[in-house]
Amino acid sequence: MTEPWTPASWRGKPAKHIPTDYPDMAELSRVETTLRKMPPLVFAGEARRLKALLGDVAAGKAFLLQGGDCAESFKEFHADNIRDTFRLILQMAVVLTFAGGKPVVKVGRMAGQFGKPRSSPVEKLGDVELPSYRGDNINGMEFSPESRAPDPQRLLQAYAQSSATLNLLRAFAGGGYADLYNIHRWTLGFVEGSPQGARYHELSEKISESLSFMAALGINSQTHPTIHQVEFFTSHEGLLLGFEEAMTRVDSTSGEWYDTSAHLLWIGERTRQLDGAHVEFFRGIRNPIGAKVGPTMEGDELNRLIDALNPRDEAGRLTLYGRFGYDKIADRLPGLLRATKGRNVVWAIDPMHGNTLTAATGYKTRPFDRILSEVKSFVDICNAEGTHPGGVHLEMTGQNVTECLGGARAVAEGDLADRYHTHCDPRLNGEQALELAFLVAEKLKDDRVDLAQRVAASI
Ligand code: PEP
Ligand code: CO
Repeated sequence: MTEPWTPASWRGKPAKHIPTDYPDMAELSRVETTLRKMPPLVFAGEARRLKALLGDVAAGKAFLLQGGDCAESFKEFHADNIRDTFRLILQMAVVLTFAGGKPVVKVGRMAGQFGKPRSSPVEKLGDVELPSYRGDNINGMEFSPESRAPDPQRLLQAYAQSSATLNLLRAFAGGGYADLYNIHRWTLGFVEGSPQGARYHELSEKISESLSFMAALGINSQTHPTIHQVEFFTSHEGLLLGFEEAMTRVDSTSGEWYDTSAHLLWIGERTRQLDGAHVEFFRGIRNPIGAKVGPTMEGDELNRLIDALNPRDEAGRLTLYGRFGYDKIADRLPGLLRATKGRNVVWAIDPMHGNTLTAATGYKTRPFDRILSEVKSFVDICNAEGTHPGGVHLEMTGQNVTECLGGARAVAEGDLADRYHTHCDPRLNGEQALELAFLVAEKLKDDRVDLAQRVAASI
């Protein structure tokens, strides 16, 4: 028998990666009480809209593009950074829409992506051992005892930053910046002179021609709002359940519980235990949700997770993000696709978290080729198993960082130190992300042609 769910019922279950070593736990409770009174960041109706769009993804009628920082930070918080990642997502979506011929559902890993599960609770430098950095909403990155102590006030700062970020994203999405007529202006400065910049320019020329043709027929931004604005959604890993609980409210329209901190939340690879606190919390919120699926997942366990998280078999409710590694996906994914055949889930790929390595210089990095290889294998395996390859989940930034190796401009190990700014995992920079979008788009297009040929041959 399942116990009744409440926003706080997770508290009775074992919880991983949620700090319990705040110097003053009563202060944490006071902060959570304050958060309970804060306005919601998103509305239930918007979350339902995203669920409906993800239902289209599950049915193979749309493609999910989800991306942003591994961890947002207080230090990198700037309107330019938000704009650059937003426009990178728009550019990638244009590339994917044009080649794939399907609408792209755009979801930022933004406006709340702070807390990080860490593989080790402590970090050692020389003889000094301190708690690991756990994300700016918990503690500070600086290696000192003061900075590494968890501080509840950081949750309020994270809320304020998420709110300001979302405000700007809403303005960009609806206020004219994202108007398709601006397609030429979306190019990021440093991408402009690159091979990807040239390809993007060529593509935007074609789209502009089509827009002029449509305008001649009387279809323009004024008559068709879909040209003037984009639908853009936010997401983060729902790690800090005290914060998520405080943001969870009853929707007055449906009478159901929604976590109003983001449109979509996902459970990380390290916190997806069936009897754990995260699965308990997630089963009761009505948002579209996700779960990471790593190389140790077995089919029966995955089916039990689906039973717990999507018992009504609702389309768009649950997205599974495979994250196996380029060398493990062929071994792991086919069995999981077979085990989940017929269940209403979106299968997407996170080609980042299974492909992390440490360079000789000590930097954590990811080779572009391996990231691309995992995405391509994902598309091939899905096609072979008769499942729709639903989308990609990426760690990326519009900034010109040097965190992942390779790409057309060939970031080498010696370059990593130049602009390594991430607060956690290495991100694709704008040029690498756009290159990936072009290559994935080509792959999806080739597969469409293949499929059409197979269908034609069978008639
Ligand atoms: C992440 O998405 O940043 C992350 C920690 O991923 P995973 O849970 O798949 O390791
Ligand atoms: Co990460």
